[in-house]
Amino acid sequence: MEFLEDLKTQIKDFQNFEKFFYIFDLELVDNYYKFLKKNTEKYGFFSKLDIEKIASRHILESMVYVYYILNFCNVSRETSLLDIGSGAGVPGFLFFCLKEKPKVYLLDSSQRRLKKIEEYAKEKKFSNLYFIYERVEKYLELFDYATIRALIPFPFNIKLSSHIFKKHLFLFGGKIEYNEKIKNYLKSCNTKIENILPISELEFLGNRSLLIVSHIDKLKKNNPYSWKEIQKEMKQWQV
Ligand SMILES: C[S@@+](CC[C@H](N)C(=O)[O-])C[C@H]1O[C@@H](n2cnc3c(N)ncnc32)[C@H](O)[C@@H]1O
Repeated sequence: MEFLEDLKTQIKDFQNFEKFFYIFDLELVDNYYKFLKKNTEKYGFFSKLDIEKIASRHILESMVYVYYILNFCNVSRETSLLDIGSGAGVPGFLFFCLKEKPKVYLLDSSQRRLKKIEEYAKEKKFSNLYFIYERVEKYLELFDYATIRALIPFPFNIKLSSHIFKKHLFLFGGKIEYNEKIKNYLKSCNTKIENILPISELEFLGNRSLLIVSHIDKLKKNNPYSWKEIQKEMKQWQV
């Protein structure tokens, strides 16, 4: 498989990662990887600097996160999962590559990269994979879980998405500073960080941690916040 062969050239300790693979349909992962690799320059899926590292920096990284998420919560065919700001389908598509798949929804405000993934999915006749082109703060459906990888800075990414999930929001994070100011900010939008799990296996990429977010009052209806409000707060915090 091209994905595994490329990965072996990109990381030193390949055998330490094999434990993460058994929950995935590796044929699907390999196929998706080959599509991304072949088309990344044409469609700008990833930055030019990352072209030689798609296998490790994007696919493997996301697979390890997905593995951690599945250790934390149950995902079945009935579970709905939304990937917010999915871009080229990362990390949401990796949930679709699970042997036991949830219903996967990939959302992005821009069609630029995600539309190409939708065309690829159509050609492959994938089912249970859905595409949404909308800003998350304007989208009002509810999903069991949601994921965020590189959307807008923390903790504003949580407020922007606080209305969209029922159970948990998972952030694919780097080094996180979680102080009283942030705690209070999250409290104001009825959210809290339940857990921060450092992902030591991904240290070769820098600091990596999984943030597990939930609502404080689980019965309260969470209305969305406008981008204007959040943008203003980002300016005030000088992000
Ligand atoms: C840096 S890219 C990350 C893409 C992908 N998650 C990844 O890790 O490679 C951020 C994406 O979020 C999308 N985005 C930004 N703000 C958004 C919003 N308010 N609602 C939905 N998508 C948004 C952008 O269009 C872009 O595709």
